[in-house]
Amino acid sequence: MTEFNYVDCFDKYDRIMQFNKNKRKYIHGWYPFVEGYSKEFIQSIIEELDYTPEHCVEPFSGSGTTAVELQKFKIKCSAFEVNPFMYTLARSKMRTDYTVNGFKKHIKLLEESLFNTIPNIETVCPPPLYKSMMEKKELKKWIFDLETMRGILDIKYALNNINNKKYSQLFKIPLASLLLEISNVYRNGKCLSYKKGWKDIDELKREDVHTLFLERLQNIILPDIIKMNQYKRKSGKLFSNYNSCYLGDSRENISKLENNSVDLVITSPPYLNSRDYTDTYMIELWMLDLITNYEELRELRKKTIRSHVQVPWGEIPLLDIPELKSAIKKLEDHRDKFWNKHLLEMVKGYFLDMDLLFEKLHYKMKKNGRVYFNVANSAYYGVEIETDKIVSRVASNHGFEIQEIRKARKINPSSQQKDLIPYLLEVVIVMKKN
Ligand SMILES: C[S@@+](CC[C@H](N)C(=O)[O-])C[C@H]1O[C@@H](n2cnc3c(N)ncnc32)[C@H](O)[C@@H]1O
Repeated sequence: MTEFNYVDCFDKYDRIMQFNKNKRKYIHGWYPFVEGYSKEFIQSIIEELDYTPEHCVEPFSGSGTTAVELQKFKIKCSAFEVNPFMYTLARSKMRTDYTVNGFKKHIKLLEESLFNTIPNIETVCPPPLYKSMMEKKELKKWIFDLETMRGILDIKYALNNINNKKYSQLFKIPLASLLLEISNVYRNGKCLSYKKGWKDIDELKREDVHTLFLERLQNIILPDIIKMNQYKRKSGKLFSNYNSCYLGDSRENISKLENNSVDLVITSPPYLNSRDYTDTYMIELWMLDLITNYEELRELRKKTIRSHVQVPWGEIPLLDIPELKSAIKKLEDHRDKFWNKHLLEMVKGYFLDMDLLFEKLHYKMKKNGRVYFNVANSAYYGVEIETDKIVSRVASNHGFEIQEIRKARKINPSSQQKDLIPYLLEVVIVMKKN
């Protein structure tokens, strides 16, 4: 069996794998997407390649870091994203046709609208159907206090009255970036949890919500639009990947690309950590009307990579990969303790999804094209799932040569696993299409 070439890159990658490096960076800083990587990661790849890529594919676009950063190098990136919130976010970040005048004109309209608010705004701009989204007498817990929700609905109402899609979409980003902060919950790994003492925290007034939102527009977005216009004056029209960003399941949609047209893949799929982005980003999905009922939510979940147990995936075949078979066998011994009966199906399904992805990428990629695949290992019941090796074997089976597995970071496993598994490896698998 092939042994893989592991390379210690902790020093190089520890600093650049995390999104928080992007925090104050041009465009990347518009929304703190913690599951993303930094723009420096993309830059480092372009710098080390021994050819100039023309067409990159990003099958799990997330907040669009890959495609946005590649724009600066004038490299086309076909980016796929299933979650309509991340898609909206990424696309707004990819546009290069904002103008300072257009931006300021629409802010002014917003300000005027927010100055003349409707008292019971929820009667004209109803909150989402999600039952605990807004404070109500019959509820014990709710995500937004009534006045906070009114402040948000005022902004939504004002945005709906902007008859310019470019700016109304863009303005949704600072609104989205505010939602969690002004809510009673926080993202706690797999789910949303209530903040400590949330009932005693002073309720925000509607005007406070408006001020926070307008401040974000002025202090975070406007300076970048000014910069964008300066770049345009200097270099002419700016390159944009806006028209090559696609909403939907990449397992299907990659088929639509032309065969032999891709010479680079840079991506980071959802990790096999039973985290469902549909859940953790549900506030943004509901509040921006990207999901309007529970059926849409269920349908969206079904299209996501099988990295979570929120969908009963049914009987799933097991790929013939030694490290995977051995992990499944060990996990089976713990079946009676499983916190969810779909756990094994999730693990099997995840690697079947990876298999499907590499099968498709094989046809789309040109010979000698490179793949940079950022992923981490997982553990359940003290059994380590060596995603780095399993994905590498899957890719090898589809004609990719594994050049090296770069050790990028050591991730802390959950407290229950810590005694048996001190850390989980996060890696960047570098591959070459044969
Ligand atoms: C780890 S994040 C990618 C982060 C990205 N590299 C960045 O810097 O923002 C993985 C993304 O894959 C998306 N995803 C999950 N299943 C998908 C599918 N079937 N097709 C396309 N995207 C999917 C998730 O919604 C999530 O945004």
